[in-house]
Amino acid sequence: MQLTHIPLVSLGGFLQVLLLVVSSTGQANPSANWKAAYAKAEKALTNVGLQDKVNIATGTPSFIYLARCIGNTFAIPSIGFPGFCLEGSPLGVRLATNVSAFPAAITVASTFNRTLMRQRGEAMGAEFRGKGVNVALGPMMNLMRAPAAGRNWEGFGGDAFLSGEGAFETITGMQSQGVQATAKHFINNEQEHFRTTESSNVDDRCEHELYSIPFLRSVQAGVAAVMCSYNQINNTYACENDKTLNGILKGEFGFQGLVHSPTDWGGTHSTTPAVMAGLDMTMPGSPAPGSNSSFFGTNLVAAVQNGSVPESRIDNMALRILAAWYLLGQDEGYPAVNFDSHNNSAPDDQQVNVQGDHKVLIREIGKAATVLLKNTGNVLPFKGLKTIGIIGNGAGPAANGPNEFPDRTGDDGVLAMGWGSGTATFPYLITPLDAITARAAEDGTQVSSSLSDTDLAAAAAVASGKDVALVFITADSGEGGGLVEGNAGDRNNLQAWHSGDALVQQVAQFSANTIVVVNSVGPIVMEAWIEHPNVTAVVWSGLPGQEAGNSVTDILFGAYNPSGRLPYTIGKSITDYSAQVIYTSTTPILEIPYTEGIFVDYRHFDAAGIAPRFEFGFGLSFTSFAYSGLSISGSPRGGQAPTGPGSALDPWLHDPVVTVQFTVKNTGEVAGHEIPQLYVSLPASTNSPPRVLKGFDSVFVAPGAIQAVTLQLSRFDLSMWDVVGQRWVVPAEKIGISIGASSRDIRLSGSL
Ligand SMILES: *[C@@H]1O[C@H](CO)[C@@H](O)[C@H](O)[C@H]1NC(C)=O
Ligand SMILES: *[C@@H]1O[C@H](CO)[C@@H](O)[C@H](O)[C@H]1NC(C)=O
Ligand SMILES: *[C@@H]1O[C@H](CO)[C@@H](O)[C@H](O)[C@H]1NC(C)=O
Ligand SMILES: *[C@@H]1O[C@H](CO)[C@@H](O)[C@H](O)[C@H]1NC(C)=O
Ligand SMILES: *[C@@H]1O[C@H](CO)[C@@H](O)[C@H](O)[C@H]1NC(C)=O
Ligand SMILES: *[C@@H]1O[C@H](CO)[C@@H](O)[C@H](O)[C@H]1NC(C)=O
Ligand SMILES: *[C@@H]1O[C@H](CO)[C@@H](O)[C@H](O)[C@H]1NC(C)=O
Repeated sequence: MQLTHIPLVSLGGFLQVLLLVVSSTGQANPSANWKAAYAKAEKALTNVGLQDKVNIATGTPSFIYLARCIGNTFAIPSIGFPGFCLEGSPLGVRLATNVSAFPAAITVASTFNRTLMRQRGEAMGAEFRGKGVNVALGPMMNLMRAPAAGRNWEGFGGDAFLSGEGAFETITGMQSQGVQATAKHFINNEQEHFRTTESSNVDDRCEHELYSIPFLRSVQAGVAAVMCSYNQINNTYACENDKTLNGILKGEFGFQGLVHSPTDWGGTHSTTPAVMAGLDMTMPGSPAPGSNSSFFGTNLVAAVQNGSVPESRIDNMALRILAAWYLLGQDEGYPAVNFDSHNNSAPDDQQVNVQGDHKVLIREIGKAATVLLKNTGNVLPFKGLKTIGIIGNGAGPAANGPNEFPDRTGDDGVLAMGWGSGTATFPYLITPLDAITARAAEDGTQVSSSLSDTDLAAAAAVASGKDVALVFITADSGEGGGLVEGNAGDRNNLQAWHSGDALVQQVAQFSANTIVVVNSVGPIVMEAWIEHPNVTAVVWSGLPGQEAGNSVTDILFGAYNPSGRLPYTIGKSITDYSAQVIYTSTTPILEIPYTEGIFVDYRHFDAAGIAPRFEFGFGLSFTSFAYSGLSISGSPRGGQAPTGPGSALDPWLHDPVVTVQFTVKNTGEVAGHEIPQLYVSLPASTNSPPRVLKGFDSVFVAPGAIQAVTLQLSRFDLSMWDVVGQRWVVPAEKIGISIGASSRDIRLSGSL
C-alpha cells in the first residue's frame, strides 16, 4: 500500500524516469504526477485572461454549439487547448457506434478479481480514447444502500472496500490509456426518486467509513475528475457543498483534479456559492460564449469583477482543469473527437471502430462474474444430456434487436445492462438461446424453447420430459427519468419481472431438473421457489454485456469453473435490508436520514442476526477448498494518524503493517479459482459491524494443489473514524481477523 519512487534510469543527470511501485492492494499516491502537470498548466495559463479562464470552466450547450459530446467545453486556441469532450458511460462509450458493451460494474465486482477489473478499465479507456473522448464519465461508485435503488448496477455493490477496489482498478486501467476518468456521483446519491430534490443526511462517521471510501481510492488512483451529484447532503446541494467538496474531497483527500457538475444539466444551482464551495466546471453551460444564461460564463466574470469571487479561485479552477489534461498527456497526439453523440448517422460521425478484441475480455469477465448459488447433486456442469428445454423471454433476443429502446429503457430478451445514461449501444448481443444451442450441437444435444414469460402451457410443454429445463428470469432498473414497466428508475420491489416466480414454479412442476438463470441489476427475492426440490441449480449471470449468452454457456457446460461471488446480500425479504428507497414526498426537499449509519448490506444482516438467503461474498464452485495455517504478523499500534489537508493519503495510514498468511487447498477434482476473503472485527467498544471486508484475492488452484495466500493490512484497514478527533484511529483493544469463503463461511480466525 506504499508508493515508492525508484529512479530507474539516470542519463547524464537530466533524464529521470519514475517507476510507480504499487503493492498488492494497489495503493498509490499520485502526487508526483500531479506536480509535473500543475507546472505545465501554470506555465500555459500565464498569459490567459479572465474571460478565457472562465471559459475553460464553462460547458458549452449540448445541442447547439460545439456539441458533439454530451458535455463540451470551450477551446482556448492561444494555448493550443482544444476544450474537453465529456461522454458516458461507466460500461462503454455511450451514444456511439462501433463500440463494445462491457459488463456492468456490479458484474465485474462479482469477479472479486482485480486483474479483470483493471483490464476492463484498460479496454474501456482504449475505446474512449479511440473516439476522442477526453473525460469518460465513470466509474460510478455510489453504494447499494437500498437494494431497489435504480442505479445500483452502475456501481460495485453493497460494500465500501470492494467498491473502492473496483473504483481504483477501473480508474487505473482507464487512465493508463490517457483518458481522464470521472469518479461519480459525489456524494450520497443512493436512490433515483427525488434525486434532485432530496437531502441525504449522513453522519460524519458513516460518510468516512462507507460512502467516501471509493472516492478516496479514486483519488489514490490519481483520478482526474469528480462529478458532484444532484442531491443535497445535509440540505446543501452536492455541487455547492463546501464541507464535502472543499472539506473532504479537496481537503482531507487532497484531490488535485477538477470537480464538474452532472453533464445532463441542472446540477449547478448558483455562481458564487458553487464556485466558492469547490465546483470547478459547470456542465453543460451557456448557449454561446458571452451569454449570461450559465451560472458560470459571463455571470462568473461579473462575480469576479464585483469582488464576490476572488480571481485566484478562477486561476485555481483553470489550473485544475488544465492540469488534468496534462496529467493524462492529452496535450500530445490525443485523437480529436470523431463521433457525434447526438446523431451517429451525421456526416461528422466517422464510425471509427474501437472494439479491438475486447469481446474476448468481455466473455472472460462474464464467466468469472457468474455466481453459482445452488447446485444440488452437482447437476452442473452438464454431462451427457440428450435434451435441453429453454424457457423465458430472458433467454432470447429482443423483438427489435438489442438496442430496441433508447438508453435501453425496456426489458425484452436477455438482460445484459440496465437503463439510463449508464449504458452503451450494443454492437451485438449474444443470446443464451443461440449460445447454448450452438454448444449443445457439438454434443448432439437437442434444444427446444419457449421464449414467452406468460404462456405457462408452452413452458410446461418445453420443460416436460427434458433432461434439464433452463428457465431465464430478469429484474431491471435504471436512471430516474426512464419509466419501464411502471418502475421509475428505482425498482418497485425485489421480485423477478414478468411474473418470473410463476414461470419458475410452473417449470419446476414439470421438470425435476429445473435450473434457474437470473440476469438482474441486484438482489431478487426468490423465496417462492428457491427451496423447491425440483429447482436443482441457480446461476446468477448478472449484467454481462454483449457476450451474455457465451459467458453463461461457459459455466453451464463446464468450460469455466465458477468463481463469482455476490457483491451484495440476497435477502429473504426486502424488509430485511436496513434501508429502502423512499417513493413519495410531501415536502419540496425530501429528507432522507441515513439512520442505519454504517450498518448497510451484510453489516446490518450480521449485526441484527438476520439470516440472508445468500450472503455477501457467497458463491459455489465445481470443486471444494480447504483453508489452513493462519499466521498473522506485524502490528498496527503506536503513533497517531495525521489530520488536516491531504491526511487521508498519508503513508502512515496506508503502508502495510500487518501480514496475514494462510493456504488454500483444492480438495476436489477440478481446477478452479477460490476467492478468499479477509474480514476485520473491530472491538465492541467501537460499535462496529461484526465483520467488515478488508481484503480478498482470486487464486487459481489445481486439484490437490496447495496455494499460499498473503494479504496485507494497513492501519487504515484496521481503523475507525474518530468524529471528535477528526482522524482515523486504530482501536487499542483486540481486533479480530477472519478468513472466509464468504462473509458467513468463516474458515480461519485470529486476532491482533
Ligand atoms: C460501424 O457501425 C455501423 C452502425 O452500426 C455499421 O453499419 C458499420 O458496419 C460499423 N463499421 C465498422 C467498421 O465496424
Ligand atoms: C451532516 O450532518 C451530520 C450530523 O450533524 C454530521 O455528522 C456530518 O458531518 C454532516 N455532513 C456534512 C457533509 O455536512
Ligand atoms: C441576459 O441576457 C438576456 C438576453 O440576451 C438579456 O435580456 C438580459 O438582460 C441579460 N441579463 C443580465 C443580467 O445581463
Ligand atoms: C456579483 O455578481 C454576481 C454575478 O452576476 C451576482 O450574482 C452577485 O449578486 C453580485 N454581487 C454583488 C455584491 O454585486
Ligand atoms: C442525422 O443525420 C442524418 C445524416 O445527415 C440525417 O439524415 C438525419 O436527419 C439526422 N437525424 C437527426 C435526428 O437529426
Ligand atoms: C418435480 O418434477 C416432477 C416431474 O419430473 C413432477 O412429477 C413432480 O411433481 C415435481 N415436484 C414438485 C414438488 O412439483
Ligand atoms: C483473475 O482472473 C484471471 C482470468 O480468469 C485469472 O487468470 C487470475 O488468476 C485471476 N486472479 C487474479 C488475482 O488475477
